[in-house]
Amino acid sequence: MLWGLFLWCNMEIIRSKNFKSEKAWGAKDIATMNGVTSRLHWTDEPYIWHINDGEEIFAVMDGRVEMKYRENGKEDSVILNAGDIFYASVGTEHVAHPIGEARILVIEKEGSIQMELNANFEKIAVVRPEDYKWVPSPMKGVERMMLDRIGDEVARATTIVKFAPNSEFSPHDHCGGEEFLVLEGVFSDEHADYPAGSYVRNPIGTFHTPKIGEEGATIFVKLYQFEEEDQKQFSINTNEAEWYPGLVPGLSVMPLHEYGTEHAALVKWAPNTIFKPHQHWGGEEIFVLEGTFYDEHGEYPKGTWIRSPHLSRHHPYTKEDGALIYVKTGHLPIKE
Ligand SMILES: [Fe+2]
Ligand SMILES: [Fe+2]
Repeated sequence: MLWGLFLWCNMEIIRSKNFKSEKAWGAKDIATMNGVTSRLHWTDEPYIWHINDGEEIFAVMDGRVEMKYRENGKEDSVILNAGDIFYASVGTEHVAHPIGEARILVIEKEGSIQMELNANFEKIAVVRPEDYKWVPSPMKGVERMMLDRIGDEVARATTIVKFAPNSEFSPHDHCGGEEFLVLEGVFSDEHADYPAGSYVRNPIGTFHTPKIGEEGATIFVKLYQFEEEDQKQFSINTNEAEWYPGLVPGLSVMPLHEYGTEHAALVKWAPNTIFKPHQHWGGEEIFVLEGTFYDEHGEYPKGTWIRSPHLSRHHPYTKEDGALIYVKTGHLPIKE
């Protein structure tokens, strides 16, 4: 009888239709059995392309979902209605787009998700503010807009991270290094308070506990992209650091960091500045901080991220509003 009582105490009825999370893809953990998790998700926003290194069962409980998937390099899609189950074998690349609101039961090996987002470094990648999709992180009050990513929670990643006022992030060490630029608010940890405009480098082996104040913070962060010997830990307040003349009139440069072939800098473009056509040895990555940046391929307003591969070329310029950009060069894979 005691056994019966035990079972009774641990049972739970979940009416999936009634479940709603605060944010898209928020989940209720139902059970973890031998390392396999069952979670009920609510969403009204698409997820991002990802691959699991284990199998996944995706069962639509309520609503409709368009599941896009790639098999042998070919993209296809299927509409899933309530009651339908999508099974992804190991390595199936897929992304779920709910049609309105949807509730989904996902059964998968814990931590098996392997995201691949803008993971082909030989291709140009551009993300504009209108493309932003904020997804919740495992920490409450912390949301992310992923720009590129290989891996899951421990990932080679470039991300915009938004910390709600008074949010915290768990203590962590930086196995692959961490570089960030504070875009808004104040980012704080046990070492310092870094106001908007701060550039911070935390090399491999460093450790911290972010704790955000009442202003909240938004940062542009690159993880797992450090050379092992690149051990200089420092921060620069770019509101106060010195500008140097650039290669053409109208350009000013604030060097941030140099290591090997890698260079990071802020570059200020006066209105109507034209730079010379050039090629990127080791690639180029730009985040537009103010104004609008242009080249012959397009227009890039504030908040746009552009990653151009090794040996790519362009002819950049600005118009009446000028631009302030973060630029990193010489850090992407060189394949000849
Ligand atoms: Fe960190
Ligand atoms: Fe360039």
